[in-house]
Amino acid sequence: MSKNLDGKVALVTGSGRGIGRSIAMKLASQGARLVINDLDAAPAEETAAEIRAQGGKAVMCAGSVTAPDFAERFIGTAVSEYKGLDIIVNNAGYTWDSVIQKMTDEQWYAIMDCHLTAPFRILRAAQPVIRNLAKAEAEAGQRVMRKVVNISSVAGVFGNAGQANYSAAKAGIVGMTQTLAKEWGRMNVTVNCVAFGLIKTRLTGNANEGGTANIEGREIKVGVNPGLLAAMEQTIPLGRGGTPEEAAGAVYLFCQPESDYVSGQVLLCTGGLTGI
Ligand SMILES: NC(=O)c1ccc[n+]([C@@H]2O[C@H](COP(=O)([O-])OP(=O)(O)OC[C@H]3O[C@@H](n4cnc5c(N)ncnc54)[C@H](O)[C@@H]3O)[C@@H](O)[C@H]2O)c1
Repeated sequence: MSKNLDGKVALVTGSGRGIGRSIAMKLASQGARLVINDLDAAPAEETAAEIRAQGGKAVMCAGSVTAPDFAERFIGTAVSEYKGLDIIVNNAGYTWDSVIQKMTDEQWYAIMDCHLTAPFRILRAAQPVIRNLAKAEAEAGQRVMRKVVNISSVAGVFGNAGQANYSAAKAGIVGMTQTLAKEWGRMNVTVNCVAFGLIKTRLTGNANEGGTANIEGREIKVGVNPGLLAAMEQTIPLGRGGTPEEAAGAVYLFCQPESDYVSGQVLLCTGGLTGI
C-alpha cells in the first residue's frame, strides 16, 4: 500500500531525542527517507537504527547545527545519499534562561545561533538545490511540492519571562518563515511554522532532578520547576502537556500532500492554549 510520503527525502535537525526524534519516526513511518542529525551522535544513531529496524531508510549527519560548515554538510548528505531534498524540519534546540539583567552576551548569541542562524544557513544552503530541482521539474511539466517546517514556541509568539534570548530567536524564526513562504512559493515550497506549548521532553522535565545537557562544552541545566510545571498544566485547556508524538503530528500536518496549498502559517500546538 502506498504511503503519504513515499520516497520523499526529509531532513530533521535535533532528531536524536524528544520532538525531533518523534518527527523523524513519523515521517519515516509514512515512507520518507531520513537524514538524522543531533549534537549527540549516540541518540541520533539510535533514531536512525530504529527507523532501519522498522524497514525505513535513515542516514546520519551528526554534529552541532551551529558549526559554520554544518548547513552544507547537512544538505550535501541528502543530495549525495538520496539525490533529493523534499522536507526540511528545523527543530534542534535548547533553552538557556535568565532574566535580562543577568543574561550574558554568550547566552544571547548561543541561543540565537542555534534557533535562528542555523535554520537560516540550512535554508540558504538548500535554496540552490531546490531551485535546480524545481527548474528541471518545471521543464518536464511537473509540479513537485516541497516542505519546510520551522519549530517555534509560545515564547516566540507571546513572550515568556526569563527567555529574552529564546523568545527573540523563536519570534525571529516566525518572521523568516513568513518571508521564505513569499520567496519560495515560486519554487513550489511551502514554508510553515509550528509553535509548541508544553511538550514533555528532556527540555521540560523535572528540574529538581538536577539534569544537565552538555551543549558544545557547556553544562546547561534542563527542566522546569515541578511547581511551575503543574501550574502551567492547569492553564492548558486539554489539562496536560503534550507528548512528543502529538507534537510530531502537528509537524506532519504541514509535510503531507493535503497541506500543499498552506504556506506562511504559524500553527499553535499547545493543547488549546491561546496565550501565556
Ligand atoms: N518541549 C517543549 O515544551 C517545547 C516547547 C516549545 C518549543 N520547543 C522546541 O522544540 C524543539 C525540540 O525540543 P525538545 O523539547 O524535543 O528538546 P529535547 O532536549 O528533548 O531534544 C532536542 C534535541 O536537540 C538537540 N540539539 C540541541 N542543540 C543542538 C545543536 N546545536 N545541534 C544539533 N542538535 C542539537 C539535543 O541534543 C536534543 O537531542 C526545540 O527547538 C525547542 O525549542 C519545545
